Amino acid sequence: MNKKTITDIDVKNKKVLVRVDFNVPLSSQDPHDNITVTDDTGIRAALPTINYLLEHGAALILCSHLGRPKSAADTQFAMNPVADALSALLGKPVQKVNEVVGDSVTAATAALQPGDILLLENTRFEAGEKKNDMGLAAKMAALADVYVNDAFGSAHRAHASTEGVAQAMRAKGGACVAGFLMEKELAALGTAVSNPPHPYIAIMGGAKISDKIKLIDNLLATADKILIGGGMANTFLKAGGYEVGVSLVEADALPEAKRLLETAVDHLILPTDVIVADQFSADAKSEIIPVHAIPASKMALDIGPATIDRFNNELQGAQLIVWNGPMGVFEFENFAQGTNALAHLLADLAASGVQVIIGGGDSAAAVKKAGLTHKMSHVSTGGGASLELLEGKDLPGIAALDNK
Ligand code: 3PG
Repeated sequence: MNKKTITDIDVKNKKVLVRVDFNVPLSSQDPHDNITVTDDTGIRAALPTINYLLEHGAALILCSHLGRPKSAADTQFAMNPVADALSALLGKPVQKVNEVVGDSVTAATAALQPGDILLLENTRFEAGEKKNDMGLAAKMAALADVYVNDAFGSAHRAHASTEGVAQAMRAKGGACVAGFLMEKELAALGTAVSNPPHPYIAIMGGAKISDKIKLIDNLLATADKILIGGGMANTFLKAGGYEVGVSLVEADALPEAKRLLETAVDHLILPTDVIVADQFSADAKSEIIPVHAIPASKMALDIGPATIDRFNNELQGAQLIVWNGPMGVFEFENFAQGTNALAHLLADLAASGVQVIIGGGDSAAAVKKAGLTHKMSHVSTGGGASLELLEGKDLPGIAALDNK
């Protein structure tokens, strides 16, 4: 990585503003409830950076967005439960302020001593955050001597706390560097983008192909094969001339799917069988059907066993595997078999030395549900960010950091 990290700078006795991705799931969206963090994975992921900075004599000002509030009135997205969860993980107090910038924040940061931790309010409570407002960015930069971005999951957002603040910090002579999580994510996903070992197999799933056309185009140039499952496979099957019954198909994306099939027919591997049902529900009766025989009244909700065997064969001998998107409706137990089988297959391959990278979002959730997170080579904490990186895009939150 050509970006400076926290080990390249001196943080002793400095106030360090750290952008983390504490966009964690909450127990309720009702502001009257006692809201708690239901999964602290995103907070744990930032601990190496937080602990390093504390051990090296810094005072920390942490900031993050949480959810998608429309304004500060959406108090169900206040950072209080996150402060509690972080404090429990660190075993020390975390002071939380009720503003992102403002008098209370200025006073609290002025009083910070090395080893102290202050958590700002949800950055999206400020109207300027998503607009990358330079006024807000300058106020945030004014709170600290140094800016650290450890929020890989938000690096694809050009927001005041991810991009503008780095510009403002640099303008006042402060360093802008990556944290350990950011460094780890870029090392893992960067391999797949710029220097993949071969054979390199990508596995794509999820509902929509329209979101992933650019990604598939980019993967066709870098990966040796792309295995396609999930809802997006229906659109490819339809584009390839199969009847897919009442399966989810993106009609608008059919021409692009056709183009991809024509240009990369040997590289795109589609399902040969699917699990169908007559309705989209958890207890719908399921049936295994070859893709050339999907009944007009049925919908495909998972890949079938012959497809899993085919994918298994394709994956043998791979050096690098990147997986993004579930193979079926894995939220429903009856249609989670393809996703689970793949997760187990990948865990075995990782154990035998294959580099297995799980893109964030739903695939990371599926791997976690299967209890296999620790078996993979890397499970990304970024959904949208990992997709955009694999598309070959420059992520604004990373581009804004100091070069080595
Ligand atoms: C994520 O959860 O993927 C990141 O925190 C980004 O959240 P956003 O999609 O609301 O910007």
